[in-house]
Amino acid sequence: MIHVASLLHDDVVDSSPTRRNAPSAPAAFGNKLSVLGGDFLLGRASAALARLGSLEVVELLATVISNLVEGELMQMRPLAPDGSGSSKRGKAWQEYMQKTYLKTASLMAKSARAGVILGGGGRLDSGVEVKDLAYAFGRNLGIAFQLVDDTLDFTSSSHTLGKPSSGADLRLGLATAPALYAWEEHEEMGELVARRFEGEGDVQLALQYIHSSSAIPRTRELAKQHVTAACDALERLPESDAREALRKLSVDVLERSR
Ligand code: FPP
Ligand code: MG
Repeated sequence: MIHVASLLHDDVVDSSPTRRNAPSAPAAFGNKLSVLGGDFLLGRASAALARLGSLEVVELLATVISNLVEGELMQMRPLAPDGSGSSKRGKAWQEYMQKTYLKTASLMAKSARAGVILGGGGRLDSGVEVKDLAYAFGRNLGIAFQLVDDTLDFTSSSHTLGKPSSGADLRLGLATAPALYAWEEHEEMGELVARRFEGEGDVQLALQYIHSSSAIPRTRELAKQHVTAACDALERLPESDAREALRKLSVDVLERSR
C-alpha cells in the first residue's frame, strides 16, 4: 500500500501519462484525486501497521515513508556547480546511490527487517541477528532492482514497460547510472548532466553517449554485484523453501525485461 501510494504521488510529480499500460491516475482522475488517493492509502497502511502491535515495526515503516520523500527531494535537487569534472562525477554517483537507497531500497530493506521482527527471528549461532541479514538482503535487492530499472529505461519499449521509456529519465532531467557511466567515457556528458538535459538536442546526444559506451553492461554488472551481496546475506540463513524462493526472486530481478 505504501508503494502504491508513492506511485500515485510519483505520477503527479513526473507528469507521467501511463502506468502499467493504462492511463496513470493523474491522467485518468487528475492530480488532486491522485494525491488524495495516495494519502488515503498511507492512512489505511498506517492503521493496518499499528494493528500488528509492534512499535519497532511502526517506526521502521514510518521511516520508509519519510525516506521515500527524502529520495524524491534529492532527485529534484540540481548537481552542485563547484569542483572538477571527476569530483563532480564522484559527487553525482554518491548522490545517485543515496537517492536509490532512499527512494527504492529503504522500502525493501526495512520491510524485510520488519518481517523478521514480526516473525520473531532471533540470533544465529554466530551471534548475527537475523533481522540484520534481512535488512542487508532487502537493501542490496532494492539497489539492484533500481539499477536494472534504470537500464530498462534505455533498453525496453514503453509498451513492454507499461510506462514512458527510451530516455524518459533524461527527459525528467535525471542522470541515472547509465548516464553516469557514459560520462566516464564521454567527458561532454558532464555539461548535459549539469543542465539536466534541458538544452536543445541534449537528450538525443545523451542517448548516443549511453548507447555508444559500456554504460548499460556496466550498470547491469553493478546490479549483479548487489544481487550477489543479497544472496550472500541469504546464504548465512538456515536452508529453507523460503530462502530458496528469495534467492530465485533475486536472480529474477536481473533477468526481468519489464
Ligand atoms: C518511482 O520512481 C517512485 C518511487 C519509487 C517513490 C516516489 C516517492 C514520492 C513521490 C514521495 C511521496 C511518497 C509517498 C509515500 C506518498 P520513478 O519515477 O523512478 O519510477 P517510474 O518510472 O516507475 O515512475
Ligand atoms: Mg516516475
